[in-house]
Amino acid sequence: MSDTGQQRVYLNGDYTPLHEAKISVLDRGFLFGDGIYEVIPVYQRHIFHLERHMTRLEKNLAAIRLSVPFNRQQLKEIIETLLTGKDQESIYLQITRGIAKRDHQFPTDTKPTLFVMSNPVKQQLKHGIACITLDDDRWQHCDIKTIALLPNVLLRQLAHDQHSDEAILIRDGYVTEGAASNVFIVADGQIITAPQGPFILPGVTRDVIIEIAQNAGLDIVQRMFREQQLIDASEIWITSSTKEIVPVISLNKQPVSQGKPGVIWNKINALFQSHKQHLMQ
Ligand code: PDD
Repeated sequence: MSDTGQQRVYLNGDYTPLHEAKISVLDRGFLFGDGIYEVIPVYQRHIFHLERHMTRLEKNLAAIRLSVPFNRQQLKEIIETLLTGKDQESIYLQITRGIAKRDHQFPTDTKPTLFVMSNPVKQQLKHGIACITLDDDRWQHCDIKTIALLPNVLLRQLAHDQHSDEAILIRDGYVTEGAASNVFIVADGQIITAPQGPFILPGVTRDVIIEIAQNAGLDIVQRMFREQQLIDASEIWITSSTKEIVPVISLNKQPVSQGKPGVIWNKINALFQSHKQHLMQ
């Protein structure tokens, strides 16, 4: 769907052209950022690990105490209706607490707003990207996939201002994740990523990569690691549903793995690509 004028989206029971989809200014997503979202990759109509995304969505809705009148099957049908069949697209799904008079506490008897659209995805950034490190000044619930992304937006913009593609975040000296991605390093032949907890989003791509690496007998651990280990790493990767696994070839303007994708990245990326192919059969 390169022509957004033709794009159809789902909003509260209707499929409408994107430009006709409108929400109330009293929607709590608009007023408070009071909602949850998901981004789900799709390859030639094959939805990538839908169950994992649904499980995370349900956990997040529970975390913000939002009960919704939609089940997995209904959401799946909406997603399938919106698919374009492109080689790669990504589903964006957002649920907010709905429309109510502006007041911080939860409204009663308000129907949640459900919005779903499909977006085209750019080619994988397999030649590598530039990152900078920034202080992770977000809140204490980064494991919740909230639509309130202002801190992440500001961090990403700071990276962009410095001609970098992503910000890698440091909290109390330890690497947490990227502004919109999880982070992996290779150090002394071992693959390391931060463990799940309140300071990282439990990325679906991250989980899949951990499993793929384990199945291939690679040495991978979930452990806190310091900024200095990031700087000294032989490889750095970032992962997300829209970017898959991307090698970082420069950190704070210094080359990483001689300024080109590393050997282990090549291996893990090949495994990830064949995992995708396998799911498409
Ligand atoms: N972001 N950490 C953060 C802060 C993220 O925003 C994301 C993804 C991830 C990776 O999660 P996953 O592998 O499930 O996509 C980690 C999405 C893609 C976004 O906001 O567009």
